[in-house]
Amino acid sequence: MKSCRLLIITLGLLLSGLGIAAESERQAYDDRYCTTCHGTDGKGNEGVQAPRLAGMEQWYLERQLNNFRAGLRGVHPQDIEGIAMRDMATQLSDDSIADIIAWVASWKYVAAEETIEGNANAGRQLYATCATCHGNDGEGNAALGAPALAGQNDWYLVTQLKNFKAGYRGNLPEDGYGQQMRLMAQTLVDEQRILNVVSYINTLTGDR
Ligand code: HEC
Ligand code: HEC
Repeated sequence: MKSCRLLIITLGLLLSGLGIAAESERQAYDDRYCTTCHGTDGKGNEGVQAPRLAGMEQWYLERQLNNFRAGLRGVHPQDIEGIAMRDMATQLSDDSIADIIAWVASWKYVAAEETIEGNANAGRQLYATCATCHGNDGEGNAALGAPALAGQNDWYLVTQLKNFKAGYRGNLPEDGYGQQMRLMAQTLVDEQRILNVVSYINTLTGDR
């Protein structure tokens, strides 16, 4: 964990340096450095803790990029991964965000590999609450602003649940959606429950 954090900080610094140097000539479509961390075709990269982007809903992708850029996410000093991502988002203009959304939409959805172990049966019961917003199949619900969870990297879901619980994410008054989710994460009272619910999410297909 330590070494991967070091890697992501180094990579982040390197890329933000490059970004500043190339600022003047940069065109919107040069913002493809995203795959350096998020993996080829946005499949996710556990080495630097960057999640899968392929198949992500456009409205959710847009909200997160805006949240990182505006400082609603990735500002808590303990949120190393979020801070690394925020450094990337602050370099984006509205135009590049629009381009990125169209570009990411062209990547094919592929469910991420399972990496964690938990009790999916126990997780099924815990997920009943989550389903009211994230859907029975983990397909997400645009009207409620809750993203799809099915097929996302399980290690990333675990980190986010811990971050919400600890208040590293979703603790700012302007971040209404994050605050909602932060309350929900409190219901997962220990690490085992987090692993169980994510193991159950691993069994969902997102209605695809
Ligand atoms: C230096 C590595 C790095 C680069 C480059 C990078 N990201 Fe990230 N990104 C991350 C990490 C790490 C996270 C996980 C943050 C967390 O755990 O909260 C992340 C999270 C995200 C999220 C949140 C996903 C979710 O499910 O909420 C989005 C969206 C995202 N990145 C999009 C992009 C885009 C688009 C680009 C290119 C403009 C990009 N990233 C470039 C490292 C990077
Ligand atoms: C009241 C509706 C609601 C309920 C119930 C709910 N969530 Fe969420 N969840 C949200 C919203 C809204 C977001 C988006 C937050 C944001 O935009 O930052 C979210 C985000 C998430 C994320 C982050 C996804 C990502 O890509 O970064 C995870 C993981 C998550 N929820 C898991 C759960 C789990 C597990 C449960 C059940 C214990 C649950 N949620 C219950 C509304 C809900």
